[in-house]
Amino acid sequence: MSSFLDELFSRRALWVTGKGGTGKSTMAAALALLASERGLRTLLIDVEANGDAARFLDAGAARYAARQAGPHLFHLALHPEEVLDEYLHVALKVPRVRRFGPIKKVFEFIANAAPGIKEVLIAGKVGFELRAMDGSRPRWDLIVVDAAPAGQVISHLRGPRTIQEMVDVGMIRNQTAWVRDLLEDPSTTGVVVVSLAEEMPVTETAELLAQLPKDVRTPVLGIIANRVIAVPDEAEFQEVASHADGTVKEATSLWLELAHAERPYVDQLKELGPPTVVVPLIGFDRHDLAATKLVADALK
Ligand SMILES: Nc1ncnc2c1ncn2[C@@H]1O[C@H](COP(=O)(O)OP(=O)(O)O)[C@@H](O)[C@H]1O
Ligand SMILES: [Mg+2]
Repeated sequence: MSSFLDELFSRRALWVTGKGGTGKSTMAAALALLASERGLRTLLIDVEANGDAARFLDAGAARYAARQAGPHLFHLALHPEEVLDEYLHVALKVPRVRRFGPIKKVFEFIANAAPGIKEVLIAGKVGFELRAMDGSRPRWDLIVVDAAPAGQVISHLRGPRTIQEMVDVGMIRNQTAWVRDLLEDPSTTGVVVVSLAEEMPVTETAELLAQLPKDVRTPVLGIIANRVIAVPDEAEFQEVASHADGTVKEATSLWLELAHAERPYVDQLKELGPPTVVVPLIGFDRHDLAATKLVADALK
């Protein structure tokens, strides 16, 4: 059993972030799959609502209402308008707006009037699902958030604080306080940062690690160095390269060169502090559930 995963799965909410394109949706899907395989009732929340994580699980398009993607595995996608609709309905008892049109206008109006509202709604939805009960037990053992890129994830986690700093109205303060408590409780919520072994993503990862503790108490539980070019047995690889010629020789030496170029960046990630796992570049044609299972195996 991986202690990295044990540590992650001892929490109730994981926010998977990182620079765009590093593999947030991939890792969110793989982590959710692994958690569900352990028997945890798992909800994958797609914050950007681009449907990637659901596609990586061969699940139907993610909607605002949770849909089942496999045994113990559910997913949903967040559209801020729908989150607002639910919030107005549940918290303020405003009758539900059935269609999307009007609520979108309401949302735009409110979002312009109150910066930070989108962030707090996203944070609030995660908090709401964390508190949801099925009878006497929590509906979800674990929520995996396919979160916003590194730059924005802090403002999501910080959403409740932003609102608290802006308004001091009792009702709103009370409603944001419990969300803040859940998202900033280190034993409940943690952040997982996905990076590539390249200069820009490593820099952004370091920046996020430096900035996050200044803004929220949510801990970074781990770093995933993704799509790392693997050379399982370098001696053997060199041997093959030395006897090969033509295209094979070129390919093997290019592979080695790339692997060597990445190494310092993997080391830099490992030195940042949080536990770091390395996931190799995996060859697959289509990123379907089978591909996600390969990524999940690498995470183990
Ligand atoms: N370990 C990996 N090996 C090979 N391809 C990967 C791996 N991880 C992610 N990918 C691919 O990289 C691309 C970006 O991943 P994605 O999860 O969509 O990134 P993000 O959500 O951060 O934008 C996708 O095409 C995905 O299939
Ligand atoms: Mg994504």
